[in-house]
Amino acid sequence: MSLKTHAPSTKSKIDAVFQLLKNSSKQGYIGESISQLEHALQAAFYATQEDADEETVLAALLHDIGQFCPAKEIHRMLVEDLNDADAVDLPSRPNYKDAKNVGVMGHERLGAEYLRKLGFSPKVCELVESHVVAKRYLTAVDPDYLERLSNASKLSLKFQGGPFSPENVAIFEKDPLFKRKVQLRKWDDASKVVGMNTPGLESYREMATRHLAKNPQ
Ligand SMILES: [Fe+2]
Repeated sequence: MSLKTHAPSTKSKIDAVFQLLKNSSKQGYIGESISQLEHALQAAFYATQEDADEETVLAALLHDIGQFCPAKEIHRMLVEDLNDADAVDLPSRPNYKDAKNVGVMGHERLGAEYLRKLGFSPKVCELVESHVVAKRYLTAVDPDYLERLSNASKLSLKFQGGPFSPENVAIFEKDPLFKRKVQLRKWDDASKVVGMNTPGLESYREMATRHLAKNPQ
């Protein structure tokens, strides 16, 4: 008897991602009086207000998805590059311990990897992965920006490598997506407004469906 495996449908992928975001409505955004879901919806709203392209809007909506990636997905991402024998002792591996502490491994990398595996485009994934790098850039070039960061964000900056060196600033400014990455970071920072009215999560379903249809796996 042969076993048939079916690739997940676009709808089931979007359902999975949206469910993670819906669940995040119960989680507070670190150091702020709003939920993670409100934070994501505000970031996406700012992107639409500035006529960003759909990939950028989706990146804004999903930029913190790595904070809520299901544990089994994180486990699978780490196991995939190992053979079965290695995977047996995975829980004793240092990077596995890091993965359980998303803040140490980098939620931006986990989020980008999770979205990549679902079929989101390289641009969406790169923007998601960049929102910490952009913070390191902005703290290097704008002392006022560093001063305005919340205490939680100042603390996490230390673990994220601190402000960029002048050399890294120059390299980052040559990135083709440089402006978009900085803009996304600014929307991220602004998305902490208590009680702000924004379109709901389902208003992005068509956009996400269109996007995944354009990027078949
Ligand atoms: Fe964020």
